[in-house]
Amino acid sequence: MKIGIASDHAGFELKEYLKEQIKKQGYEVIDYGISVKKVVDYPDYAEKVAKGIQKKEIDFGILICGTGIGMSICANKFKGIRAARCCSTYDALLAREHNDANVLTLGGRLIGKELAFEISLTFLSTHFTKGRHLRRVNKIKKLENVENQY
Ligand code: RB5
Repeated sequence: MKIGIASDHAGFELKEYLKEQIKKQGYEVIDYGISVKKVVDYPDYAEKVAKGIQKKEIDFGILICGTGIGMSICANKFKGIRAARCCSTYDALLAREHNDANVLTLGGRLIGKELAFEISLTFLSTHFTKGRHLRRVNKIKKLENVENQY
């Protein structure tokens, strides 16, 4: 399974930590930046990971900014992306089981690195339940259609 990861400056240290920990678990990780700590704009990095999923370069994305909120707002603008900002392992479990989320967003200024790792592992190892949730995710996909845009 291929994981794309990216952050802005506020998530850089957590990204570097998670990248190595997730690799140790046997996942292939593609780092979409930033590669050195510098002030950047989080939408640019959300876009890289979202497009990575759209192009099937990666199966899942992890995006880290200060709160995880900006990354989540941006990633969810892209067709086919269901980004969930998770602050607990239970968030991550349900984001996968019920919402079939394909991008996890984390707040580098909000949570510790061990919790962020546990959240990431939960997200990556949990399967979509389907059943009644598939009907709802299909309705999310219908909302992406152009006729719903103003
Ligand atoms: C950057 O200062 C900060 O605004 C950003 O990392 C993020 O938290 C936005 O949602």
